This record gives sequence, C-alpha cells and structure tokens, in this order.
Amino acid sequence: MTAQPQRPAFGSLLASHMGVASYRDGRWSESEIRPTGTIELSPAAHVLHYASTCFEGFKAFRRGDGGVHVFRMDRHIARMRQSARALVLPEPDPVQLADLVRGVIERCREAVPEAPGALYLRPILFGTTANIGAAATPSVEASLLVLASPVWDYFAGGMKPLRILIDDKHTRSAAQMGVVKTGGNYAAAMGPTLAARAQFQADQVLFCPGGEVQETGAANFLLLREGQLVTRSLDSTFLHGVTRDSLITLARDQGFDVSERIFTVAEMLDWVKTGEAALSGTAAVLAGVGTLIHRGTEYRVGSGDVGPLTRTLRAQLVAIQQGDAPDRHGWLEKI
Ligand SMILES: Cc1ncc(COP(=O)(O)O)c(C=O)c1O
Repeated sequence: MTAQPQRPAFGSLLASHMGVASYRDGRWSESEIRPTGTIELSPAAHVLHYASTCFEGFKAFRRGDGGVHVFRMDRHIARMRQSARALVLPEPDPVQLADLVRGVIERCREAVPEAPGALYLRPILFGTTANIGAAATPSVEASLLVLASPVWDYFAGGMKPLRILIDDKHTRSAAQMGVVKTGGNYAAAMGPTLAARAQFQADQVLFCPGGEVQETGAANFLLLREGQLVTRSLDSTFLHGVTRDSLITLARDQGFDVSERIFTVAEMLDWVKTGEAALSGTAAVLAGVGTLIHRGTEYRVGSGDVGPLTRTLRAQLVAIQQGDAPDRHGWLEKI
C-alpha cells in the first residue's frame, strides 16, 4: 500500500483569496475579491464585546472533467440571513453574497481538491461599530467575508466509528438560539466537548437537555434502521442542517419511513441495540457512531462499526455531490 500524503487538518489551510464587503450608512459596499490576509478592526468593534457574529459552511466539489460545483448554496445563504436577523446584524444581500462566493471559487479554482476533497466555503458576518457601551444597541456597521479552505476528512480517520458522550444536563445554547449559526454557541459547547474528550475519549457531545435528543456541537443526529430514519423535528433549539434535509430527502426518495419528532435518550439507547446512529453535517457528511456513553456506561451502537445504512446513505449523497449520480433535486450549481 502506498502511504497517504499528509493532509492539513480540516479548515487549517486557507485558499489564496477571500471575498469582502462592508455595510455602512445603511447600505452594502461593492464586493471585492482580495488576497487572503489580515483585517483591521477597532478594539471597540461590536463583535469583540457582544459577539455579534454568524457564519456559514458549505462545499464546492471538483469533478473528473475539472468542473467545480457548489452544493445548496441558496439554502446556506438563506440560513445566514436568518442568523443575521436573529442577531440584529445587517442582512447580507443574497445576490451579492452568492456572487462573492462564485468570485472566490473562480479565483481559487486551482485550490479545489480532487474528490474526496472539496473546497469549504466559509462566509462570516460580524458587527464592526466601535462602541463598548452597546450591550443593548445593535451594530449598524458590519463586515462580510467569504473565506475558502481546501478540505479532506473532518473527523481524522474518516469512516472510523465515533464515540459520543450523551449530556442530558446541559443545553448547547439558549433555547431560541440553537437555530442560529453564531460563534457564541460554539464557544459554549467547547468546555463540555473538551471535558468529554479528556474524560471519555469522546469525539463529540450529544446534547440532550431534559432527556430529549438535540444535536452535537457541530452536527445533527440521526437514527437509522431497516427502512426507517428518525431525527428531531425542526424547532429553535438546534441548527437546521442542510445535510440533514438532503439525507432525509434521499431517504424518502427510496421509500424510507422518515420520522421527524422528539425522541428521548432512553428510546435512543434501545434503538441502537440493533439500529444505527450517525452525525450529519457539511463537514462530517454522515459519520457513523460506534459507541454512546451515558452516565459512565458505554453502549455499543449496532455492531460497534459504522453501519451499512449509514455507509449507503453517505455514499449516495457523496455520489450526487461529486457528479457520479444524477442531481435530481437541483442541489448543485456549476461555477
Ligand atoms: C451545530 C451544528 N449543527 C448542525 C450542523 C449541520 O449543518 P449543515 O448540514 O447545514 O452543515 C452544523 C454544521 O454546520 C453545526 O455546526
């Protein structure tokens, strides 16, 4: 076997160019594509004090013929606008943001890795008004950046079954903020996630406040079993993943009984005696869970390996993204 080339960790390598626009005096500036580099920010910038920031993450894929296709950009832009509204930040203009993303991809075309890699696109919006007395005053100025990063595996080891710690005490975020993709939610999940890694060698924490399953720090959560898919019904407590929606659609297409509903830790532990569990997200795609850890006890999920339904659904989604299967739902745009 030939040795695999050493690949940079997910997100650690930035592409050569970024997109930039700013909001001032009630309107967005012209867009600009410029070399990726440092930005200047007042130390009094709203974001540094009051965390007025949101972001997105999605991927563009290189095909065998060299064409580059971006996956469900419209959904991600809509979600970013919704996050901006929730944080009382100026909403990005959807046409301008889509053009910025296209401009970055065009400029960084050479940096889009071959499959199974992808170019990860990361728009970020943050409040820049300089005022350290603005806890109850929104930022009227903002910056919008679009970064790009060539990526490979999110979870080092690829299809290794994950170890997930069930936390039925803490919430990942305030109940109305789970649906918002904002930095503060990730900052809040950091402590529990690091503690779970140190104590249980867990890859992620699955937040289940009050015993109801929500999501992990950076992915949605699905249960699978012959012809059945169960995942939490949409509400404000968790992020409405585009991957979750895509996988549900693919499962429905092939006749799965898809159930979007509240389910409990007890039901999940029973389910995984024979069924499968997986995390879904742009970065994770669909990553199989091998072990759930609850109150100090380890529960094997199915055989303890990544399950066959997880592998199949993941492969089906990846095949569409990479152009190896037809794009029946119009999810891809050629750049
Ligand atoms: C907290 C959280 N939940 C779910 C997801 C999955 O969302 P998506 O499938 O749109 O990437 C992500 C990743 O963006 C996330 O950070």
